[in-house]
Amino acid sequence: MVMKMIRSVKALFSSKYSKQCVWRIKFKSVLLLIAVVTFLYISEMINHFYEVDFKKFQYPLEGNIEKYVMQLRDNKIPSKQPINVYKYEYITDCLQKCQDKTPLRLVIVIKSAIPNFERRYVIRRTWGYEKRFSDVGIRTVFLLGNGNDTKLQAKIEREYLLYRDIVQANFTDTYYNNTIKTMVGFKWAVSKCPYSKFYLFSDDDMYISTKNLLRYVRHPTKYPEYLTDVENTINNGRLKRMKRQLVDFDLPDGIRFYSGYVKQTSPFRNRFSKFHMPLEEYKYDSYPLYATAGAYILSKDALIDMHYASLYTKHFRFDDVYLGILAHKIGILPYHSNYFHLFKVKYSPQNYEYIIASHGYHDPEELLQVWNKQRELGSA
Ligand SMILES: *[C@@H]1O[C@H](CO)[C@@H](O)[C@H](O)[C@H]1NC(C)=O
Ligand SMILES: *[C@@H]1O[C@H](CO)[C@@H](O)[C@H](O)[C@H]1NC(C)=O
Ligand SMILES: *[C@@H]1O[C@H](CO)[C@@H](O)[C@H](O)[C@H]1NC(C)=O
Repeated sequence: MVMKMIRSVKALFSSKYSKQCVWRIKFKSVLLLIAVVTFLYISEMINHFYEVDFKKFQYPLEGNIEKYVMQLRDNKIPSKQPINVYKYEYITDCLQKCQDKTPLRLVIVIKSAIPNFERRYVIRRTWGYEKRFSDVGIRTVFLLGNGNDTKLQAKIEREYLLYRDIVQANFTDTYYNNTIKTMVGFKWAVSKCPYSKFYLFSDDDMYISTKNLLRYVRHPTKYPEYLTDVENTINNGRLKRMKRQLVDFDLPDGIRFYSGYVKQTSPFRNRFSKFHMPLEEYKYDSYPLYATAGAYILSKDALIDMHYASLYTKHFRFDDVYLGILAHKIGILPYHSNYFHLFKVKYSPQNYEYIIASHGYHDPEELLQVWNKQRELGSA
């Protein structure tokens, strides 16, 4: 369309056309111009011109909120009242999950939806399996909101009695309430299960290799090379290849680690997009760096600080961007890993050797097959 416009404008200034023809072309290009501008207006894409440079980023509550986060962490009364509290009541709270206060390695918090019974069933038997490793403490819960189907709700209650792994709260379970779901998960983890070193947040349509995830957090900057590093040593004049020791590294306590597939994107101003973002809601030309929502991992300190930061940060509809805003406001830089995949990675044993997360497992049957295969091969 743009090319056509340029061509007709060029044609306007070219002399080889007759007068009548020039008029016709002029009329056509004016029409085209009107159409383009109208489209920009109707779709609100024109708003790109009114965006503010991200360098000027401020997001309510403006100013330094780290002070209040520290006060809350230290169990002090914060010098300023929170501006954003997710006040939802638990319908089921899984209080017994972490009641024994055993120090854990990993808590897996899965955003699910009410009708996804089969996905939960398979996840409990694959990457959510708490007893996967005899020497690694893992706990798994599913997050749900409130539906409006009493039959389904009765089924959820039976599921809860059977597995005791559903955290359900009284917000309406819809796509645009994703941030509420996520922050209910943060709040639950901080208040009901704070004895773990790491927290994985994930969707219920993911393939996750719990084994690779645990390897990753041992040495994020060297994953997966540290697993395969070989040393060449000369021994009695002969070249010998040795595997390096794997066990001498772990993220130190107190580190605020927030990692996944990290992106920086710009708001969609097109009104017809699912991700449409009006200027009134967010005026900058870019979002802060964030880990995309499918799967990301946090150390305990990142979890706690981001939870408290949310109390001083205005609600935002997209949960992953919201977490990016929280991290930005308290100076946590998300750490990117190529082994978290936003899209489905075509299955082959080699492709999945080091994968931590792959999106696109809507079919629980397929997840079960792929996961079992990779488990046999020692990489799930
Ligand atoms: C959730 O429960 C709380 C406490 O009972 C109540 O104040 C709130 O209005 C409820 N919210 C919804 C959306 O039902
Ligand atoms: C509630 O019911 C309506 C009508 O059946 C449906 O369109 C809507 O998606 C339901 N909402 C939830 C949260 O299940
Ligand atoms: C989100 O949940 C709240 C509380 O239940 C509800 O009032 C609101 O309509 C929901 N929003 C959307 C977009 O579904």
